[in-house]
Parts: sequence; C-alpha cells; structure tokens
Amino acid sequence: MARAAIETAAPLIPPRPTLALLREIAAGCTACDLYKCGTQTVFGEGRGQARAMLVGEQPGDSEDKAGRPFVGPAGKLLDKALLAAGIDRKLVYVTNVVKHFKWVPRGKRRLHEKPNAREIAACRPWLEAEIAVVKPRVLVLLGATAAQAILGRSFKVTQQRGQILASDLAPRVMATVHPSSLLRAPDEETRRRETQRFVEDLSGIAPLVADEAEEASATH
Ligand code: URA
Repeated sequence: MARAAIETAAPLIPPRPTLALLREIAAGCTACDLYKCGTQTVFGEGRGQARAMLVGEQPGDSEDKAGRPFVGPAGKLLDKALLAAGIDRKLVYVTNVVKHFKWVPRGKRRLHEKPNAREIAACRPWLEAEIAVVKPRVLVLLGATAAQAILGRSFKVTQQRGQILASDLAPRVMATVHPSSLLRAPDEETRRRETQRFVEDLSGIAPLVADEAEEASATH
C-alpha cells in the first residue's frame, strides 16, 4: 500500500525567496504539529550575506517568548564564545533546524524536548531556503541534532567536532557541541575546559568571517 506523502514546509517556499518573505510565511507554518506547542515561529536572524551560518536544534523557552534565536542562557554563552573566538555575532546568521519550541510541562516549567525526525524533515525546507538566500561559506552545526540533520544520522559530534568538511548545502561545514551542553557540565572545571574546546572549534572558522569584518568596515 502506498504511504501517505510526508508533509513538509516545501510548498510554502516562494519561488523568489528573500529572508523577509521567508520569515513572514514561516510565521504561519503548520507543516508539523509543533506550531501548536510553541508561542511563535522563531526564524533565523543576522547578516543577510553572512559568510557563516550557525545552526542550532530548536528555540528554547526564552527564544519562544522573544521570537529570536539564541537569546537565552545558551545564546549568551554562544555570544561569549564567539567573541572569544574573534567572531562578531552581528556578522553571522543564526538559526535552528526546527523553528518551533517543543516542550513538555514539568510543574510550572516548560522542559525542552528533542524534535523527532518527522518534525526535522517538515522544517528542513526553511533551513534550505535560508541557506539558498544567505549563501554562507560555512555552516556551523551546533550539537548532534543539527549535525545529524545535515551530515547524516551516523555523524558523531564527539569524534568529528571541529573538522571542516564539505557538504552539498555549503562549501564548508563544521560541527561542534551545542552551547547548552556546556551549561549542563557536571562541574566548573569541566565547563571551563569544554568551553575552551568550543571556542577553539569556533576559532577554526574565524578567518572566514574576519574577511567579512574587513569588508564591512571598508564599506562604512
Ligand atoms: N538552543 C538552540 O538550539 N537554539 C536556540 O535558538 C536556543 C537554544
């Protein structure tokens, strides 16, 4: 018996997308059920012609409320790590593989729940459209969900983090840990050491973004 077609956001992608148009249409996306869970679609944001696009898993509680990616505790840690790596967040584009917050209630709190393969597949056309418009030189995949969504289920962040790889979505791809994993470190020493490794991974792509910083200051 023929299987029902998997629903995705693909029919919503306009023929001549711009970031503003994509953001506007994504606000009403119902390609998977997560729109019932999150407050709003959290679309990517940042420099329209960014050389580096950072891709996380999905918005968290703070992002769901603010409608902006990586503005909560993990985002603050990401900002610090970018700065330590010599990367200005204003020069990159930041987004997620899934654009609604998936959560389960735990008392008064909304606890993050991992998106499943169906939800990731449903949302993927938005990420592909963002990549097609921004045309980054490098995708930075934050954590296993983003890495496996782009590089395949067998990709192991623990073994291949920091390596600059080729992909059909962007000339270069680099996967590293998710900043929220640093927040969950069991002790201060582990957090310090792992944050340093995260900064080292990000430093690997800094030269690509640095060219852009020079260009941006030359045009202003
Ligand atoms: N974690 C993510 O993966 N993305 C965000 O935007 C915030 C937290």
